[in-house]
Amino acid sequence: MREIDLRSDTVTRPTSGMLKAIMSAEVGDDVYKEDPTVNALEDKLAKMFGKEEALFFPTGSMANQAAIKLHTQPADQLICDKWAHVFNYEGGGASFNSGVSCKLIDGERGMITAAQVEENINPPDFYHSPLTTLVCLENTTNKGGGACYDLKEIKEVRKVCNTYKLGLHLDGARLFNALVAKNEDPKDYGKLFDTISVCLSKGLGIPMGSVLIGDKEIMKNAIRVRKVLGGGMRQVGFMAAAGIYALDNHVERLAEDHKRAADIAETLDAASYVGEVEPVETNIIIFYLKNTSDEVAFMNNLQQENIRISNMGQGKLRIVTHLDYSEAMHQKFLKVLKQIKL
Ligand SMILES: Cc1ncc(COP(=O)(O)O)c(C=O)c1O
Repeated sequence: MREIDLRSDTVTRPTSGMLKAIMSAEVGDDVYKEDPTVNALEDKLAKMFGKEEALFFPTGSMANQAAIKLHTQPADQLICDKWAHVFNYEGGGASFNSGVSCKLIDGERGMITAAQVEENINPPDFYHSPLTTLVCLENTTNKGGGACYDLKEIKEVRKVCNTYKLGLHLDGARLFNALVAKNEDPKDYGKLFDTISVCLSKGLGIPMGSVLIGDKEIMKNAIRVRKVLGGGMRQVGFMAAAGIYALDNHVERLAEDHKRAADIAETLDAASYVGEVEPVETNIIIFYLKNTSDEVAFMNNLQQENIRISNMGQGKLRIVTHLDYSEAMHQKFLKVLKQIKL
């Protein structure tokens, strides 16, 4: 059996069906907007979310950074959770690319409420403070352990954004996990957010690529911003073909990843060496050992069985299920977890 790599849902390799789609893609120069497959992918996602436009990006980070640039002016401030990817894991891009600061909210598992957003808007006439212009939500949350927003709360955030004339961006790197877990309609998200970035390279399993979705007005400069960020690509229809294939074949199966994640959480919960398992809603499991000092021994036990998971520091361990984690691997992993003695 191959190594069981549960560090992230980005470690997958294209399936044979996806490789066939890649090999038979019709391509062109996407910088000239002449790649028919990229155009088809963008069109498919825009329609799926009920928006006017979509633009293919090499990474989720670049799609988020472009969105921040489209919504803000230098010296503005955006509001996001303290664990947000846009603040913590995009290399300080918000300040580097857009010259904006981030007001960090102490949310719950990476999610913030409408009330918290409203409390943290700087009064627009108080010129000493940065002008608040954007709110960024993340769904599902990465560091929050795959937690999903309640659509009702997002509606309240939208109301606050309307009242204070703020843009609303969704980092939807794993939005399809939330849509499947909560049986939601992408069009509801299209109605609530001004821009949405979705990653095709996480649970959906394509080698690279994310898409930024929005209406014409906000998206009119998106291609220029992508150019500035160095994200113009040429015959990238090969990847777009993988994206179309993934949207047609890999969305519903996310439920399998969620079911396996729930099984793992249950097994961990019952293990004598585990202190706490955070609630599991999608494909990410965050847990803590009873004694942090056992971490090395625990990881060594897994390593001996050719199993890899992530240590996020401060006692936080992370497991992520995905497309390349088979039922046979799952059964082996559960068995190993049950046998470990620390
Ligand atoms: C929540 C979230 N947003 C954005 C990204 C960025 O995606 P990429 O690695 O394609 O830049 C990630 C990547 O893990 C993520 O977890």
